[in-house]
Amino acid sequence: MSGNICVVGSLNVDLVATAPRIPVKGETILANSFAVRFGGKGANQAVACRKLGVQTSLLAKIGNDYYGRQAMEVLNGYSLDTTMITKTELAPTGLALIVVEVESGENIITVVSGANALFSPEDILLNKGAILCSSVCLLQLEIPLETVRKTIEIAKQNHVKIILNPAPFQFLDDEILGGVDILVPNLLELGSLISLHIPDGDEWDSNDQNEMAVVLDLVEKLERKFPNLALVITLGKRGCMVCPPLRENSHLETFLVEPYLSTHQVVDTTGAGDCFCGALAVGLLEYDNILEAVRFANIAAGISVTMQGTQESYPTREQVRNLLKDTQVARVR
Ligand code: RIB
Ligand code: NA
Repeated sequence: MSGNICVVGSLNVDLVATAPRIPVKGETILANSFAVRFGGKGANQAVACRKLGVQTSLLAKIGNDYYGRQAMEVLNGYSLDTTMITKTELAPTGLALIVVEVESGENIITVVSGANALFSPEDILLNKGAILCSSVCLLQLEIPLETVRKTIEIAKQNHVKIILNPAPFQFLDDEILGGVDILVPNLLELGSLISLHIPDGDEWDSNDQNEMAVVLDLVEKLERKFPNLALVITLGKRGCMVCPPLRENSHLETFLVEPYLSTHQVVDTTGAGDCFCGALAVGLLEYDNILEAVRFANIAAGISVTMQGTQESYPTREQVRNLLKDTQVARVR
């Protein structure tokens, strides 16, 4: 495997309550347990890449506080390059309030941005060397859009591949979308991107020819506009849909990649999307083929949901490779 990965994104402390269910508006419920963990979509993606064996640097911003220092210790423990994480006196380290439902392992998350909101294009310029010397750069949307834009602009100077996970959703203009190589939305984010309501992965039925046709037509419109863009649409328990860039084909090719279903119970899906994106980047370095990379990522994310927490539940490369033969790819069109 060659190359290294640069992740530009958020870093949070996660305050996690595990509860019998997710409370409704106005309701108070009692939790079963509580844990303080370290997360943030950026930091999670970086840890996923590092645990899968790739040299990884994280560009992020923390506050000058207890949680910021603890987070640095945890990330250094994974042997990540943290030298480009900057510190601000003007805001606390980002924080996420998370409730995980015991039965389903599903969650709700509220992020208080703190220092992440002050992570600026200037910070990117200061550390642009890390972006320029990487093979793949991973981005999400828990930091200002202008910082994402600057990262893409710099990465483009050296043909660094950009993977963007548009979560939490922010409106993306053509300049940003035009600079992305692989966009990894879930169905709700894809719907927001193309201004259409698409039910989430659990409600959506990929066997329903009508639903599928509607989604594929919209995807095709998006891809005609951005012919260099590859789309990897995550479908939760249903795996994911992959559309390689149109430039390589005259018509839209679409594949469904089966999820990896472990025999272990799903205990915590928090950060599974981040694990997926990190593993996708690693898979691309390893296979240089998007379908193989997605199969690899599906397995990594599938392993992560069988354990509590985010970073601590991410697998090693050997764990993923041992299971690779178990997932299938089917052509949709
Ligand atoms: O994707 C999971 C992550 O979302 C959590 O770690 C939390 O910090 C929020 O950023
Ligand atoms: Na997990």
